[in-house]
Amino acid sequence: MVATLLHEIPLQGGDVTDGVVRVGDTVRRPASTSTPAVHALLRHLEAAGFEGAPRVMGMDGLGREILTYVPGKTGLRLESVAEGALVELAELVRRYHDATAGFPLTTEGWEGGSNDDKAPEVIGHCDLTPENVVFRDGKPAALIDFDLARPTTRLFDIVTTLRHWAPIADPIDCPPLLRSLDVGARLRLFCDAYGVPPRDRRRLLALARIRFQRSYTVMRTRATTGGNWARMWAGGAGERIRRAAAWLDVHEDELHAHLV
Ligand SMILES: Nc1ncnc2c1ncn2[C@@H]1O[C@H](COP(=O)(O)OP(=O)(O)O)[C@@H](O)[C@H]1O
Ligand SMILES: [Mg+2]
Repeated sequence: MVATLLHEIPLQGGDVTDGVVRVGDTVRRPASTSTPAVHALLRHLEAAGFEGAPRVMGMDGLGREILTYVPGKTGLRLESVAEGALVELAELVRRYHDATAGFPLTTEGWEGGSNDDKAPEVIGHCDLTPENVVFRDGKPAALIDFDLARPTTRLFDIVTTLRHWAPIADPIDCPPLLRSLDVGARLRLFCDAYGVPPRDRRRLLALARIRFQRSYTVMRTRATTGGNWARMWAGGAGERIRRAAAWLDVHEDELHAHLV
């Protein structure tokens, strides 16, 4: 046991899960209620030939999930805000969604229900932040951290991704790298690369608005459970959502013009 612990390298970057470690070519993560569903999904992706996600290797003696370590870099860097990277991310998300086809869209076993009011179309990742996308050779290569995955619409997952990558946020809350991007042009670039149909482009910003309301409520509730959620809330997560929503109010027409 001591020998095993010595070889555990803590992995940081996420805000949420304590105790994510690398052991050799594997990652060990504490299991959650959605772990069986996530494992079934990852196995489905593997069978479908989708290369952009870790593989499941089972559970270890400490009750942690074992996934393959995906080599590369996570987190915001200059290369991750390049337009080419955004296009490749959209293509990767599209391939991921398409690869979930055939996976049951029942809500049972997942962390929560679909956040969109329309019928689920895919298993969304639902948390595609820069910390959850592995870059290799300057390109997005894999999606990790499926803890919030669930059946939802393609558009809901796209909105969540664009929240972080366009970004749909008040520049005051953004790191300098993201502050002066042409958000409208990036929304369009992503939609073009993914192949978002016109009917979904038209409701994209309305859904972003709904998403802000729902994430605010969900995060406020989660904060009452303590731990990292409470810490994130105390650190201003709710205020950032409110500011992003207010920023969207001011810029919605101008952004919408890029989508129609
Ligand atoms: N399978 C993996 N391959 C490579 N790196 C990983 C893997 N899983 C996690 N990591 C690294 O650890 C960080 C935190 O892990 P993550 O699963 O995202 O936990 P959290 O729930 O805290 O966000 C990630 O941002 C990434 O840098
Ligand atoms: Mg993460």
